Amino acid sequence: PLVSMNEFFPKARANKFAVGQFNMNNLEFAQATIQAAMELNSPLIFGVSEGALKYMGMEFTVAIAEAAAKKSGLPIALHLDHGSTFEVAMKCIRGGFSSVMFDGSHHSFEENIRLTKEVVKAAHAMGVSVEGELGTIGGVEDDISVDEENANLAKPEEAIRFYEETGVDCLAIAVGTAHGMYAGEPDIKFDIIRQVASAIPVPVVLHGGSGVPDQMIIEAVAAGVGKINVNTENQVALTETIRAVLAKDSKIYDPRKYLTPGRQAMYEVIKSKILLFGSNNQA
Ligand code: G3H
Ligand code: ZN
Repeated sequence: PLVSMNEFFPKARANKFAVGQFNMNNLEFAQATIQAAMELNSPLIFGVSEGALKYMGMEFTVAIAEAAAKKSGLPIALHLDHGSTFEVAMKCIRGGFSSVMFDGSHHSFEENIRLTKEVVKAAHAMGVSVEGELGTIGGVEDDISVDEENANLAKPEEAIRFYEETGVDCLAIAVGTAHGMYAGEPDIKFDIIRQVASAIPVPVVLHGGSGVPDQMIIEAVAAGVGKINVNTENQVALTETIRAVLAKDSKIYDPRKYLTPGRQAMYEVIKSKILLFGSNNQA
């Protein structure tokens, strides 16, 4: 069965590793992810955005994640990514998700606390874990777009108060990463991570994990990041591989001929991330 993120977060903190949230956009993403996680014996989180949920449908989304958990025997959480309302979070929980993110970062601080608290209360009553978000993370993901100027770093004192008042199971804070690939290198505020992580008992979450240099990921995990989200890098690996395969042979019509190498490329990305995050042999 699918598990709450609390199934592996205490171990992540004790052993100083981060669990990867690999976004699932279709069956191939799920297969690539569990193949890598099984080989490396790693816990994992399937992130599903509202856009991906709309694309796959609730039944297929939950069935694919459950099949992955059954086949692998690994602790797997099925997690709503950037849930925008209480209603969508409840819909996912009713549908079979084991974890939800409520992203109230575009609301005022007090309103974000109030709304997140309501999700936490309802989710916890059903054994479902909750991620909150503070500060705004730049970049584009699905329908959510935040330009550089409106990307706000999280304030450590606010993050600590947010945790204390909401009781979230992990907390995403804006620390300089962005959704999508980077033009240059992100300017990650490791001090903010350290200040928040040392003051709260739950993991700090790093969004926008795609394209972050390896050394920065290692430093972020050492500073207290316990969950890292990766989506774009897999999308790029899949699409670039398919593009290359089709460019080489214009006669291809069997989707398996390009999806198989595309899936393989995602598997390679995920394997390297799991090793980098240090969650191998921690299932
Ligand atoms: O919520 C999902 C992540 O933050 C993904 O970010 O697409 O830059 O890897 P990314
Ligand atoms: Zn995100």
